[in-house]
Amino acid sequence: MLWASLVIENIGCLWTMDGAGAHGVGAIDDAVVLIDADRVAWVGPRAALPVPDLRGVPRVDAGGRAALPGLIDCHTHALFLGDRADEFARRARGESYAQIMAAGGGIRSTMRAVRGATIEQLCDATRPRLRRMLERGVTTVELKSGYGLNVDSELAMLRAARRLGDEDGIDVVTTLLAAHAIPPEHEGDASAWIDVITKDLLPHVAREKLASACDVFVEQGAFSAEQARPLLRRARELGLAVRVHAEQLSRSGGAALAAELGARAAGHLEHITAEDVEALAKAGVVCEVLALAQVFLRGQRATPGRALVDGGCTVAVATDCNPGTAMSTDLPLAAGLAVTQCGLTAEEAIAGVTVNAARALGLIDRGVVAAGKRADLVILEGATPLDLVYRWSDARAHAVVARGRVLAPPSSLVDA
Ligand code: NIG
Ligand code: FE
Repeated sequence: MLWASLVIENIGCLWTMDGAGAHGVGAIDDAVVLIDADRVAWVGPRAALPVPDLRGVPRVDAGGRAALPGLIDCHTHALFLGDRADEFARRARGESYAQIMAAGGGIRSTMRAVRGATIEQLCDATRPRLRRMLERGVTTVELKSGYGLNVDSELAMLRAARRLGDEDGIDVVTTLLAAHAIPPEHEGDASAWIDVITKDLLPHVAREKLASACDVFVEQGAFSAEQARPLLRRARELGLAVRVHAEQLSRSGGAALAAELGARAAGHLEHITAEDVEALAKAGVVCEVLALAQVFLRGQRATPGRALVDGGCTVAVATDCNPGTAMSTDLPLAAGLAVTQCGLTAEEAIAGVTVNAARALGLIDRGVVAAGKRADLVILEGATPLDLVYRWSDARAHAVVARGRVLAPPSSLVDA
């Protein structure tokens, strides 16, 4: 028999994002969601409710507001210490991201802040960012390492990310991005650091299951596709999914490598060609549009989101939250910019932060509202789900349900 531990009722318009109906958003008016523990037990219009008597079951009255699946931020570097406001100012005066990186700033500057930090300090700095994400409706976030750049500090970052995921609130998926920059110990010798990652770090990470994926920044001044290939192959052998930072500042072969290796996801893609789009589509690589980064860095090209969708790619949208190229935790803003800067439709951008973001993380238990899936939902303030991409930073979440519990605002909304 159908049993509910929580009822969410009076949802004016729910987009389940299950691919059904107009634009594939699975719209249901006057919707009810029955939740059993951490799973959705039933979803549908109130008129079809199979359990007529829900007396005594705690309920959330959505008050006619719109709802979506809990949002998923599938590409972030939100675990860091310090800031790089000075670099923002330097770019405004005309220096480029690449010039600042070559001069020892950029990722290495954050590395200096992260190295030597305790796991507790890393968690304390990151927790408020995750809280802000949750308050916007994000229930799952990917956190990458990549600011430790030595074995111990990379492990510390992943352990901090795991600890944050074990806490109440937002769910965390971890990615090893040790090949983010060349550490000063290996100045001018990217291959030496790739060797350390492959031989020392990766086996450790795989053994302790500290990350579910391995990422590489394929870019001039970082790592070439040739340097990245053996590392990513080894990661795949050890059971980690492959992710690539590809074609962000120049065309460096990252997209072709992602396609060749059957990567789970490739992010940025500002400098891709039609050939790359075809290869990514054929290989089923989820393409991540990270519009905050391209807007934050002056003079960046826009990722051709329209061409990716039209070329048959699955497109996700994420914040890329990091202190150097996207100092923001605002996923609705990233989705709004994916529409205006990268040519996605509003519905595609919303799919990008829900169902397609789940695919980018290899998660099949979330991203849609459907029976059997995790009970992760966001109730927006307004009456239309389009508010998520239309109202940008004003797209407030009225309530956030994660694994069947009302997390934001704290459970005051639940009536027994
Ligand atoms: O995705 N491009 C590489 N990594 C980040 C930037 C990290 C940083 O500058 O701290 C990105 O944009
Ligand atoms: Fe990134």
